Amino acid sequence: MSRVACLLALVVLVSPAADALDNGLALKPTMGWLHWERFMCNIDCDRDPNNCISERLYMQMADVMAKEGWKEAGYEYVCIDDCWPSYQRDAQGRLQADPKRFPGGIKKLADYVHSKGLKLGIYADVGKKTCAGYPGSLGYYETDAQTFADWDVDLLKFDGCNMDWTLLGEGYVNMSKALNKTGRSILYSCEWPLYEWPFQKPNYTAIREACNHWRNFNDVYDSWSSVKSILEWTASHQDVIVPSAGPGGWNDPDMLVIGNFGLSHAQQESQMALWAIMAAPLLVSNDLRDICPRSKELLQNKHIIAISQDPLGKQGYRTVKVDTFEVWERPLSKKRLAIAVLNMMEIGGPRGFFLRAVPGWKICDPQCNLTQVLPQYKELGVQTPHTNVVVSVNPSGTALLTVTPISGDFTGLSELYWEDTSVKRNHIIL
Ligand code: GLA
Repeated sequence: MSRVACLLALVVLVSPAADALDNGLALKPTMGWLHWERFMCNIDCDRDPNNCISERLYMQMADVMAKEGWKEAGYEYVCIDDCWPSYQRDAQGRLQADPKRFPGGIKKLADYVHSKGLKLGIYADVGKKTCAGYPGSLGYYETDAQTFADWDVDLLKFDGCNMDWTLLGEGYVNMSKALNKTGRSILYSCEWPLYEWPFQKPNYTAIREACNHWRNFNDVYDSWSSVKSILEWTASHQDVIVPSAGPGGWNDPDMLVIGNFGLSHAQQESQMALWAIMAAPLLVSNDLRDICPRSKELLQNKHIIAISQDPLGKQGYRTVKVDTFEVWERPLSKKRLAIAVLNMMEIGGPRGFFLRAVPGWKICDPQCNLTQVLPQYKELGVQTPHTNVVVSVNPSGTALLTVTPISGDFTGLSELYWEDTSVKRNHIIL
């Protein structure tokens, strides 16, 4: 198949998606902070009071988010992961926070986070126990949903450990119904497909109807090999997963690990660019109290966030692999296009890439306006299909660009890129 035929086939495959969970939430990919990758299950507050899983940690993150530009940039949810509860439920069978580490309780913490203009996320598990061995929600879906609603929680991450896989679907759907029944708007973040893939191909129509986002693949680690493995998994399953993404429901490739220890700056730029192209939730897991200025600037880059949050809500995908480069493209509103060019070489220096090799470059017929967003912001001006623009891409780095067609005279191919889908666009105005 020629490259254009391949692209056409993919574009047809990525067209229609099913109805989203109709709770009016996650109309754009969720943005916030989530404790897991950076803080894990550190419960030793005697030895490590600053970094242990305690109400203090979330209050301090909320303070920084409100004060240091994170909230303005769009980061809204402060999310608790595993290891927050007590090992025992209370006399009424309700989950309770560990009393030593959360002396004020979750309701007070939610009030605090709300007072900063932010939202609070919490974590539970569809099975008997969480992945770290705390009480699971099996048998308690309605009780737990009501407890979270009573505490004024705004998001639930629902993990899938310690559950018979044949009951996963039923469990995730029942918790979705239980959350709905509380009458509170609680964003529902699932891990259903991740736990189902080892046994069968998940039903993404059903998943999209129940969840606001869903993890498909392994936990992210603080390393380039981990980020690369997530990108490779996503690209090699894009025909299955891309059609299910759209306003109200998103594929979740896991947290951003930017601002930690394992990624070079070029690799951090790649994670940020590709998470924007994939229309992924932007949930950072780092220490916002102590982050290097370059990583902070990258995470708060308004041009990249605008791509992530584009109102068309279509997930991008890999279109070409050539000469150890990967090209990923995402259709944007107003018939614009975002292009990411990744240099997969991990040796040598910056390498040049001819943009005319990008399939979507056709939208420059007769003319387009080109902007480079990464590694530096640059207006590259008016281009035609025949201009030879070369972008320079660092080893394991990414050049991120946006293309705006100048006249409305699109080719058939470009129309297909932006073809409307049957994704239910709850309350979306393009
Ligand atoms: C699983 C999830 C992670 C995290 C841990 C907590 O591994 O995939 O994101 O929530 O459990 O134990």
